[in-house]
Amino acid sequence: PACSSHTTCSSGYVALQLAEQCSSLLQRAIKEEQVIETKSTFADLVTAYDKKVEEIIISTVRRAFPDHGIVSEESFPVSPAEWKEWSWVVDPIDGTTNWANQNPVFAISIGLAHRAVPIMGVIALPSLREVVYAIRGRGSFYYKPETKQFTVREPSNVPQDCLLTTGIGYERGPLLQATMGYFMEQLPLCRAIRLSGSACWDNVMVATGRISGYWERRLKVWDYCAGSVIAQESGCRATRFDGRPVRLDDGAEDYIVAAPRVHDYMVRTLATHQFYLAGQPTPH
Ligand code: IPD
Ligand code: CA
Ligand code: CA
Ligand code: CA
Repeated sequence: PACSSHTTCSSGYVALQLAEQCSSLLQRAIKEEQVIETKSTFADLVTAYDKKVEEIIISTVRRAFPDHGIVSEESFPVSPAEWKEWSWVVDPIDGTTNWANQNPVFAISIGLAHRAVPIMGVIALPSLREVVYAIRGRGSFYYKPETKQFTVREPSNVPQDCLLTTGIGYERGPLLQATMGYFMEQLPLCRAIRLSGSACWDNVMVATGRISGYWERRLKVWDYCAGSVIAQESGCRATRFDGRPVRLDDGAEDYIVAAPRVHDYMVRTLATHQFYLAGQPTPH
């Protein structure tokens, strides 16, 4: 579709080329023994390919858009105090733990924010050979395997027909009980709950109707910047737990994305778990 803004349109084009290039790289490299280092804990990993993919994306973006800001997990992991007019928000490999285990559930995520509001997103799922993208106001599309628009799918009965998903990230302490509290509450009520290990993958699954809803308490901006645009443009809602719209500069780390009726249900039921927002351990 014709683009209203030159920047969003040309950035979308650059992001699609990068996603495709890096997706092919990871498709070829998945069988290799990965070079793994640890970060904050023994379970928080980074591999040589996280850095390599990041290098490819950042060097190209810098060359094409020298005035734009960049936030990216491995080299520029800190959200700026003042967001630039345009900022790229990149997760070179989302699902590093899976990738390090040669498990195929991982994604490459390239987002663009305008004054801290996500405006364009491209996500590649290399093992499925899928690339999906969206520009705000223009709908959500598969780019690979073929260009095709997609829209949200609502389950007939909420929550009985819902397949939900969450992520537990790198939390191992008492805060994890808060996520597991909602998990245990919803498990008997819905069809099933899945844990993929990749927030961007989960966003794409919800946007394309393969999962009904996703929640997570502790995400970073690169985990949902691109995915929130893709999901919203397909007709889903992507917000904070209390239903507030997603901005990258609000300091919040909680996130839900779901088909509209499922989203209503999740916001309502999460509200009875206020400790999620406060980040407090589960009350007894
Ligand atoms: C992680 C994954 C995981 C989610 C964590 C993220 P990474 O990202 O998306 O599913 O639960 O919160 O940090 O470290 O693999 O890019
Ligand atoms: Ca991530
Ligand atoms: Ca990552
Ligand atoms: Ca990581």
